[in-house]
Amino acid sequence: MGFKGILVTVLLIGLSNAQDIGVCILPNEELCQNVERDGSPAVCRRVSTRIDCALAMSRGQADVALFSEEEMVLLSHQQPNDYRVVASIRDVSRTAEPFAFEAVAVVPASHTGGLDGLRGGRYCHPGLDQTELRWSPRVLKTLERAAARTDRCPGATTTGRTAEELEVETLSKFFGSACRPGPWSANVSVDADLKNRFPALCSLCGVNSTCSRYTIDMGVTVAGVNNNNRHIQALECLRSNNNGTVAYVAWQHVREFFNMRNPDVATSFALLCEDNSLRVLTSELLASTTAPCSFVKQPWSAIVASASRAAEIQTNLPAWWPNGVDPGGNSWQTNLYTALVGGSNARVIFQETLQTPLEYTRAFRNLTTIDASSSCLPVHRWCTVNSQEHAKCMWVRNAAFTLGIEPMISCQMRATTFECLSDIRNNAADFIATKANYGFLARQHYQLSAVKLIQNSRSNPASYSRVVALVKASSAESDITRFENLRGKRACFPEFGGISYMAFVRTAQERSVISRSECDYARAVGEFFDSACAPGAMANSHALGESSFNATSLCTVCRPSVTVVGGDNNFTCAYNHTNMFYGNNGTLSCLAQPENHVAFLELESDRIDEQLRAANLPNSSVRALCRNNTLALSTGVRIDSNCLLAFVVDSEVLARRNDITNSINTLLDTLDFYFGYNIGSGSQLINLRMYSSFDGRKDLLFLDTAQGLSEPSSDADDEQAKNYNELFRHLEACTGAAAPVPGLATRNFFSILTFIMSAIFTRYVIY
Ligand SMILES: *[C@@H]1O[C@H](CO)[C@@H](O)[C@H](O)[C@H]1NC(C)=O
Ligand SMILES: *[C@@H]1O[C@H](CO)[C@@H](O)[C@H](O)[C@H]1NC(C)=O
Ligand SMILES: *[C@@H]1O[C@H](CO)[C@@H](O)[C@H](O)[C@H]1NC(C)=O
Ligand SMILES: *[C@@H]1O[C@H](CO)[C@@H](O)[C@H](O)[C@H]1NC(C)=O
Ligand SMILES: *[C@@H]1O[C@H](CO)[C@@H](O)[C@H](O)[C@H]1NC(C)=O
Repeated sequence: MGFKGILVTVLLIGLSNAQDIGVCILPNEELCQNVERDGSPAVCRRVSTRIDCALAMSRGQADVALFSEEEMVLLSHQQPNDYRVVASIRDVSRTAEPFAFEAVAVVPASHTGGLDGLRGGRYCHPGLDQTELRWSPRVLKTLERAAARTDRCPGATTTGRTAEELEVETLSKFFGSACRPGPWSANVSVDADLKNRFPALCSLCGVNSTCSRYTIDMGVTVAGVNNNNRHIQALECLRSNNNGTVAYVAWQHVREFFNMRNPDVATSFALLCEDNSLRVLTSELLASTTAPCSFVKQPWSAIVASASRAAEIQTNLPAWWPNGVDPGGNSWQTNLYTALVGGSNARVIFQETLQTPLEYTRAFRNLTTIDASSSCLPVHRWCTVNSQEHAKCMWVRNAAFTLGIEPMISCQMRATTFECLSDIRNNAADFIATKANYGFLARQHYQLSAVKLIQNSRSNPASYSRVVALVKASSAESDITRFENLRGKRACFPEFGGISYMAFVRTAQERSVISRSECDYARAVGEFFDSACAPGAMANSHALGESSFNATSLCTVCRPSVTVVGGDNNFTCAYNHTNMFYGNNGTLSCLAQPENHVAFLELESDRIDEQLRAANLPNSSVRALCRNNTLALSTGVRIDSNCLLAFVVDSEVLARRNDITNSINTLLDTLDFYFGYNIGSGSQLINLRMYSSFDGRKDLLFLDTAQGLSEPSSDADDEQAKNYNELFRHLEACTGAAAPVPGLATRNFFSILTFIMSAIFTRYVIY
């Protein structure tokens, strides 16, 4: 964690001078200024990620950028013809090699039976956590997929099982023993469970290896060969006593191993090719920087230019960087080199012809497109609610596919969050990340549950959902000083069944101003207040179980009494902004009406001042009524967290309560690992950030306040996650005590168990 990119939105200053070359630069002000200095033709184009850069380039808002190896593969699918590759970036010690790496299978020269001949064999793998050569999961698993057919889930039911479990189970049936170190799942408990159940797949790693590394005896160190290198270790695993059947490693390390370390035995080994043929490792073959056959050939990372500027940039670059080397000194040329290429281990190799990304990769890394691919695992359908979000989802989907993350994702767009919730309930979509505001409705009306909670920033309280009760300072001085005083008054809520509404119900029940046995929350609130505005109170989408209560009184306040000039003065209980009292800002407008008394809303710290201004409510005109039933000491909205009615995580990932939850849970762990904030942008295989703004737009798929994910059950780690769970526990306990909620009978055994447990727990926590 720790890498929360500075919030830099794409600030593209349009197209400036035609001679300027717009260079994509990730958040780094110093670099940005340096490339523009001293008569440089370069101008800085600030982007948050390299994927944002690709989007900016496709609109002509940037001209040149660096893309990583895997990004080149992704671009060849996503934007195959948009750009031209002007140069590749290679390792300084391997400039003559055409590939960033080649992944090969080394077997004893006596091997028979091709790929199928590996069945029952001993398999040596460099490890799923090896980072040296930037192998994606797809690369790491290519041999397994070809030999053990891990993509076919043979004979296994996929219900309720994670992709990792199906994969490892298939491997354990295929190979007799192995060392396949590193995490088998981004989810630690899934990983631990699998390591426990399939120890044979770790048995070649050596004693006390805990399957996290090799501990086999590596013998003496030979100059030029690193005994700590995982590929060398995997080769040693294969070689030692001729016990191994296959090592899946990089060709460059095969050459080191057999040229320098064990030349005597080289010809006892061979490469196993995809067509099942063998190539014995003669000194002639080992002299070549390219393998005679390989399972993956990876393109080098590349400098890419927009099609319209490519020829010009291709002409200029060799003049700026003679021989593809950093020219040094304190010139703009060197600054540009640092900005685009970076690192002293890199060398720029200029392309002779201008190829598109597709042409650049197609000859050797020709992945089937995601739409033409099939998998034995059900695709997980991510529900999106607008086209920008959909676009981001499609990039996440394709990036995950490029990296070989399983199961595959699909994206489907609906008009509203409620349509998504309903689709998920009806098994027409699988998951969505939504605001805490929808948490109760999603559980109660749509029978969904949280797969993950979002982690907010602990250093920034404003990133959480914080519900406050506000009364008018004038009435506070006279008649409203406690929750009891609100009886018979007029109240404003952002949305019926939303987090503010539910936080009020909870507090009111705690204070016993609403009966704890009244579990019809429309009635509970409707009968307590004279009237209210709770948008959605009469909508089917918001129904909280069967209610005989006439909810009209929860909508009557939604009509402004004073005619608002230019406003919509028609009666509406709509749960969108056509209702001028909908949402947190609308609730403030509602409170501003002279005859209304109290508003319950989420404090959006970055917007609240503006919202108060828009509602014509000076800070001094409102005062918070705290959860402990006292008025806040001063007026305004700067209140301490003990005063809040709820202080909870601001969003969560929701899915149906059934067997696919495990699989979604671990998929999210994997996505968090690759596209969260765990890895710096330079090391990320594909620089896409699922929690950050995308293409300059905030809050797509996740709120930008998200930092990571946590378990809905992990109460201990996070106060606000605990508060969130507790809020629903309290309410669920109520639904159980009084009239049973329709749908309870259809809940499965575990929900009932959870419900009983939480009912017991609630007694201790709340009463
Ligand atoms: C290889 O096999 C021999 C005998 O079959 C055995 O003694 C040795 O321990 C094995 N080595 C490894 C690394 O498994
Ligand atoms: C609910 O109450 C309103 C106003 O009091 C009334 O007009 C309406 O007919 C009632 N609806 C039902 C279904 O009883
Ligand atoms: C509240 O904010 C939304 C979007 O930010 C806007 O569309 C709406 O008009 C605002 N409502 C009021 C009452 O200011
Ligand atoms: C109630 O909470 C507020 C806000 O945290 C605090 O200032 C006040 O002292 C508390 N009052 C009581 C009686 O606990
Ligand atoms: C891992 O996945 C399981 C279910 O698949 C889930 O219950 C668990 O909470 C996940 N997280 C961790 C950190 O283990």
